[in-house]
Amino acid sequence: MSKHTVVTMPGDGIGNQVLPQAIRVLKAVKFDADYVHADIGWDCWCREGNALPERTVELLAKHKLGLFGAITSKPKKQAEAELRPELKGKGYSYFSPIVTMRQKFSLDTCIRPCISFPGNPLNFIRQKPSGGFEEPFVNVVVFRQNTEGLYAGVEWSNPPEQVRAALATHSKFKPFASVPGPDLAISVRVITRAAARKICRAAFEWAKKYGYKSVTICEKPNVLRETSGMMEDEAKVVSKDYPSIALWSTNIDAQTMWLTKNPEDYGVVVASNLFGDVISDAFAGLIGGLGFAASGNIGDEVAVFEPTHGSAPKYADLDPPIVNPIAMFLSAVMMLEHVGDVDKARRIREAISAIVKEGKVRTYDMMRIPGGAKAISQGAASTNQMSDAVLAELKQQTAPSLRSQVEELASSRR
Ligand code: NAI
Ligand code: MG
Repeated sequence: MSKHTVVTMPGDGIGNQVLPQAIRVLKAVKFDADYVHADIGWDCWCREGNALPERTVELLAKHKLGLFGAITSKPKKQAEAELRPELKGKGYSYFSPIVTMRQKFSLDTCIRPCISFPGNPLNFIRQKPSGGFEEPFVNVVVFRQNTEGLYAGVEWSNPPEQVRAALATHSKFKPFASVPGPDLAISVRVITRAAARKICRAAFEWAKKYGYKSVTICEKPNVLRETSGMMEDEAKVVSKDYPSIALWSTNIDAQTMWLTKNPEDYGVVVASNLFGDVISDAFAGLIGGLGFAASGNIGDEVAVFEPTHGSAPKYADLDPPIVNPIAMFLSAVMMLEHVGDVDKARRIREAISAIVKEGKVRTYDMMRIPGGAKAISQGAASTNQMSDAVLAELKQQTAPSLRSQVEELASSRR
């Protein structure tokens, strides 16, 4: 029996193209794992009225490790329209399976590394005051609280009377009190002290482990005085345990403006759910965008790794597939790091790094040409060609150092 069982959830669209390639890469480094397929996504919704079937939840609960591709989601009316006729009008409502998965397993810590690969033509470059350009090396890891905040799902259109009555006790609700129910929508931003402290602690621990000099809390406490205020307070409390790591505080709006000014100055960034989502996408844009952005959703027991991109339906049926599998590979790398297989993780990262640097094999996004059927004839590598290049590079990597061989031998005897 293998040491790990990975629950693989390709999902919809290009998730089905990139995830199998990541398994090839994991097999190439001899990750000691079995893989079990699990259903998730739009097809499940249309057929079963549930985008995250119970059997998938059970597999995750059992094996604790998931690798996820991407899903398609559509607005409320369309979701109802595409449901199988027998299920229509039976009270099924669509919930995002990713959000549900995060909440069900308390995957409260989302980690999104945004680290440049030298030679990537998509890297951010900056004009120098003295003329010419420079390419700052971005090495940022965003910690996003993953289960609370504005994405907690506590929201109403036409809120019930008790909710309106409770809100009416707040003086700032006065201007809204007379708005008719059907014209009123409310989303609640819930922050708990325990979760705020936990995400800040995780951010500082990462900074300590990987030698980052600063942790930036990116919120908006001057306006969102209660919720962002609590996040910032907890960051301050936690920071006391890490005297050698600086705590910086920025506002989400200003941070996105400064992003291109000095991205190399930031290390670990921590934020609540929505702001973390925003700022991690913003940093990812500096290091290559969706083809390079990976993430880990970590709970106390279960962890699920996924590229940040969605199902890209417009490219889902192309043959050969053209999308960049690197974000999916980097998600697999994060999974290896999570289970402590750091040497295998390092090998894959180095192989990707070598291919990017060499610049011979580039998917359409890396060439800055439009995606679509013509991309291949314009010289873009297909998904498979990029994967083959990484696999070939892995094959010809020099043997692991003597030290890691000894370590591997020791751990196999443990
Ligand atoms: P998307 O991320 O699927 O695609 C946006 C665009 O980015 C694509 O059209 C393509 O040009 C590019 N792109 C995405 N992944 C790429 C890759 N690996 N290589 C090269 N280019 C890539 O976002 P979009 O179009 O807004 O949403 C499509 C569907 O995906 C929607 O149903 C949406 O709800 C869902 N979605 C799912 C996510 C997830 O599963 N985590 C995240 C974001 C969107
Ligand atoms: Mg996002």
